[in-house]
Amino acid sequence: MSDGVTVLLIGCGKMGGAMLAGWRSWPGFGAAVVEPKAPVKTDDVVRLYMDGSELPADFAPDAVIVAVKPQEMDNAAPVYQRFVQPGTVFLSIAAGKTIASFEGYWGKDAAIVRAMPNTPAAVGRGVTVLVANDQVSEDQRVLCQRLLEAVGSVEWVEDEGMLDAVTAVSGGGPAYVFLLMEALADAGVAAGLPRALSESIARQTVEGSGELSRQSSDKPETLRKNVMSPGGTTAEAVGVLDAPDGIRPLFERAIAAATQRSRELA
Ligand SMILES: NC(=O)c1ccc[n+]([C@@H]2O[C@H](COP(=O)([O-])OP(=O)(O)OC[C@H]3O[C@@H](n4cnc5c(N)ncnc54)[C@H](OP(=O)(O)O)[C@@H]3O)[C@@H](O)[C@H]2O)c1
Repeated sequence: MSDGVTVLLIGCGKMGGAMLAGWRSWPGFGAAVVEPKAPVKTDDVVRLYMDGSELPADFAPDAVIVAVKPQEMDNAAPVYQRFVQPGTVFLSIAAGKTIASFEGYWGKDAAIVRAMPNTPAAVGRGVTVLVANDQVSEDQRVLCQRLLEAVGSVEWVEDEGMLDAVTAVSGGGPAYVFLLMEALADAGVAAGLPRALSESIARQTVEGSGELSRQSSDKPETLRKNVMSPGGTTAEAVGVLDAPDGIRPLFERAIAAATQRSRELA
């Protein structure tokens, strides 16, 4: 990260805290953090404020990162309208809050980037999809990308409408993977394994498969076929899972339902 980046972080809970931990080591980095719970202390890098109204009048951050719950936004966001200036980009990670809703707080001159991260961000392995309004400069896009790369990888879309499906796929995605762990373990128990053993091997199978996928350049289809031999046990199970009424149409319905719910909530 280039020297001298200064940010204002609003909300330092799970996501805000994880991001701040990633930024701290950047040379010249400084942050003002507004968070009533005081999860961090004022030190050389961070200055803590309990309320946005306490921020110094001459404070001019490069980015204002909004990391409070969506339902807190109407209460939290409007006070930061005074930071709308060409040198400052607003970056929201609040699920479902649209760019239009932020323009409602800060006006159409505000440079706004909306992000959809997911929970593996807590361990630096999230994936975040970003979309910007027309006021965001190229340098500000780069800054927002770097801010989110502190907790994982980053993708951009140009059409904000895609964020509903992104929310369904990667936002909720970790829950589907954990459900897979649960279902695999339950099925092992039904097949005669002790629960503790079944839960342990199901969990480690998902963890190991994720790591194998990360380290491999092969597509998931190839990795899957590598496990299957014709007429073997895995092919038997995949024949059930990948039947015409199997996991693919089920996922299609699940993602369509979540996408629709995201549209409704927005
Ligand atoms: N967690 C995830 O994996 C995840 C994934 C994707 C997107 N997100 C988004 O990330 C945002 C933050 O989520 P989170 O899980 O980090 O929530 P969180 O742990 O509850 O953190 C939010 C923090 O903001 C504080 N806060 C509330 N009102 C405030 C205000 N007016 N000014 C400053 N701070 C305020 C909260 O304090 P109190 O608890 O006292 O209210 C809390 O400590 C949400 O908008 C969520 O949609 C989270």
